[in-house]
Amino acid sequence: MKRAVSWYSLLAGVSILFILYALAKNYVFDPGAESFLSHKTELKRELNLSVWLNVMYVHVAFACVAMLSGLLNFSIRFFEKSRKLHRINGYVYIVSVLLVVVTSGYMAPHATGGKISSMGFNLLNLIWPAMTITALVQIKKKQILKHRNWMIRSYAFCFTNMAIHLLTSLFHQGFGFTYSGSYTIGVYCAIALLLIIPEVIIRTVGRQRWFAASR
Ligand code: HEM
Repeated sequence: MKRAVSWYSLLAGVSILFILYALAKNYVFDPGAESFLSHKTELKRELNLSVWLNVMYVHVAFACVAMLSGLLNFSIRFFEKSRKLHRINGYVYIVSVLLVVVTSGYMAPHATGGKISSMGFNLLNLIWPAMTITALVQIKKKQILKHRNWMIRSYAFCFTNMAIHLLTSLFHQGFGFTYSGSYTIGVYCAIALLLIIPEVIIRTVGRQRWFAASR
């Protein structure tokens, strides 16, 4: 039980730190996204900066809401307090996911790394809502375990941005690839990792009912 508690604490710690980082970086320290946009040197489509920035602000806001609401709904203490709140918060998660995907749809054609990166993001725009809606369909059918497992798969994609940036840094700074090449590799490696890691969690920690003990 004790170990189970610490798995949830670990998830909560990483998620909350990342939310604080994303909010501080994108709204306070670099609201013009200058460091990120400086790498967009070979854009094929013209980028309307003010529209792009506003879309990005909405994107980051709902990405953070998705991360927080998803985290809360994995807590059994929260679930036990009120099933109704779990349900409402679940819809907040779904709406947030859809808004992240819609805003991503606007930004994807201008993605760093060009067409191949755009294709990766468009793939994400299909996978993520599909998994999230599957989780909803499962709970409507009263399939609790399947609902939980699809939510684990869906929630993993809240870590997309973190994974892309960590992988981009690894390939760019660690292996000396160009930034845009590293970013494209980062997008595809992130998709692969975010599909594999939840399967490992479902088959290992998930079997120990760690979510059920996450108080
Ligand atoms: C849920 C956690 C997420 C956060 C906190 C987040 C945050 C951000 C931020 C801050 C940017 C601006 C560029 C940068 O600094 O990286 C961005 C760009 C972008 N995000 Fe997200 N994002 C998340 C998830 C996603 C997901 C799941 C998708 C796809 C379904 C997505 C698609 C995009 C796209 C297409 C761009 C533009 C990339 C580019 O211009 O190269 N994001 N995101």
